[in-house]
Amino acid sequence: MSFYEICGGQPLRGELRVQGAKNSALPILAAALLAPGQSVIRNCPDLSDVTAALEILRLLGCSAVREGDTVLIDASQLTGCRIPDRLMREMRSSVIFLGALLGRLGRAELSYPGGCELGPRPIDLHLNALCGLGAEIAEDQGRLTCTCGQGLVGRELCLSIPSVGATENTMLAACAAQGMTTIVGAAREPEIVDLQKFLNSMGARVSGAGSPVISIQGGIPLHAAEHTVMGDRIVAATYLCAVGAAGGQLRLTGVDPADLAAVCSCLEEAGCRLCTDQEGISIAASGRMRGIRTVRTAPYPGFPTDAQAILMAALAGGTGTTMIVENIFDSRYRHVDELARMGADIQLAGRVAVVTGSRLHGAVVRSTDLRGGAALVVAALGAEGVSRVSGLSHIRRGYQGLDESLAALGADIRTRL
Ligand code: UD1
Repeated sequence: MSFYEICGGQPLRGELRVQGAKNSALPILAAALLAPGQSVIRNCPDLSDVTAALEILRLLGCSAVREGDTVLIDASQLTGCRIPDRLMREMRSSVIFLGALLGRLGRAELSYPGGCELGPRPIDLHLNALCGLGAEIAEDQGRLTCTCGQGLVGRELCLSIPSVGATENTMLAACAAQGMTTIVGAAREPEIVDLQKFLNSMGARVSGAGSPVISIQGGIPLHAAEHTVMGDRIVAATYLCAVGAAGGQLRLTGVDPADLAAVCSCLEEAGCRLCTDQEGISIAASGRMRGIRTVRTAPYPGFPTDAQAILMAALAGGTGTTMIVENIFDSRYRHVDELARMGADIQLAGRVAVVTGSRLHGAVVRSTDLRGGAALVVAALGAEGVSRVSGLSHIRRGYQGLDESLAALGADIRTRL
């Protein structure tokens, strides 16, 4: 079982170009299915979730080749519409292929994604929206068969929760639906804007991404296209919090500071010095982070749930008290028990966590999910002594070369096999 061995207390210094965003690359890879020809996706991060998406594309008959950080997808010859259970289990967001398959082939077969380490992850909003466009969905022993015999037809759809995945799935299917689809109550995340850019470069007519109302003029023949995936704002937040915990000075490029406004304002309030410009973000931190006003996770532009564990880890090694309220997922505090092994003082009551800063010490800890794992690394970087963080498969779902990048910035981190 491999693990990171981290000797904490080394400040981080230097400059880092942030990898492409996982949560943008996945729907964009699914979108490449919508048209024949070869799409070129640049800045596509090399992560286990992306590898799973490429495997799905190959199983469906596409050619999918990685050349460095560029991925070439040729979706000219689709031969299948079925995603095996194994890949659905490996990556819950495989459900994003549903809208694209329905749009391109009029049929998709996949298993119900079920729960995950964050608690129940329903897809009712995805299915309702697709049914609204004319899809028919049958469920048999956890397998879903989705068809659209009469073809998809655009209309106005309302999402009761601004679900990121449901918004993306609907955008993909709506490109193939005849007429205009309007998604009211759409998610506003920057990754949705990136998906809109790629779809429009394929010839689609999508507008409104980044606002709660997205319009898609469907039925326009699409063609393959080129796109550069946006920088990963959660990976950027992780490095910023790592500097908050360990101290130092770091400049991040390849990410839009506007996408990180909620995270940056928390770090500033906690005593870090931040400076943003068009190319990136610089952070300087010395001394321990201070407790801050209540942090409530919320859909974008609110504080991202994906950065909750990471900020908590940095605050846990600081001073003062902070209340955190997790509003998006039911079970997103599994990292708390592991942080406690490092001496963190965190009291949980339902959705609320009260973090009282204290000096953390090294410990043997295990990641239970992707961002929870990154949080343990952040805590270990700021802790006194040696920590061992296992469960690296979770971390590799979303971070490319986390150990190497941190080591290049001066962290004492090694991967042991
Ligand atoms: C995406 C991100 C994930 C992030 C999350 C919230 C990807 C690949 N993943 O996940 O990293 O944590 O957004 O920012 O982009 N819900 C329903 N029914 C549905 C769909 C969602 O009730 O059909 C609920 C969920 O249980 C959750 C909330 O809506 O409570 C938000 O989920 P959603 O935005 O859909 O998250 P994902 O798209 O799965």
